[in-house]
Amino acid sequence: MLKALVIYYSRSGNTKKMAELISEGIKNEGMEAVLKDVKDVEVDELLKYEAIAIGSPTYYGSMAAQIKKLLDDSVKFHGKLDGKIGAAFASSANVAGGNETTILDILNAMLIHGMIIQGDPQGDHYGAVAIGAPDNRASRQCIRLGQRVAKLVKTVSSSES
Ligand SMILES: Cc1cc2nc3c(=O)[nH]c(=O)nc-3n(C[C@H](O)[C@H](O)[C@H](O)COP(=O)(O)O)c2cc1C
Repeated sequence: MLKALVIYYSRSGNTKKMAELISEGIKNEGMEAVLKDVKDVEVDELLKYEAIAIGSPTYYGSMAAQIKKLLDDSVKFHGKLDGKIGAAFASSANVAGGNETTILDILNAMLIHGMIIQGDPQGDHYGAVAIGAPDNRASRQCIRLGQRVAKLVKTVSSSES
């Protein structure tokens, strides 16, 4: 079965809630979603999934150190994540508080790995964002991101088989 790993770091629960909603969106499309706090992720696990979504609170306009560490540790598998689907999401306290730059920093690492990232012309363009705890708008964007990730996995997998 096709599987997605949804990884988050969250101190006060906002990014965790986003991750749960993204997992829900993935499952809505009939795909398996495994939800994990970054502290429980072994870097080797990244190899087992067709898609990896990573979320972080915005810390000074970028990702939390715990997420950066996982990405830096992933150099162990440089070249091995090529062609996997990637997505990112972020929570911040303020509008224009740096949630999009946080997402782009995560996507930057994913692109260097050769991962496939789909933007969104109608929804949150780079990945889902929330100000504090996800409100109705942000919740819809998280579910939408999960659904789009799962659909893309299915499209890419069927074109390979
Ligand atoms: C060290 C630190 C730095 C932060 N930097 C920013 C920032 O640059 N912009 C912003 O809007 N919020 C910033 N915040 C607020 C968090 O991004 C925000 O509260 C977020 O929703 C927390 O997510 P969590 O509940 O998943 O931990 C910062 C918080 C901390 C603790």
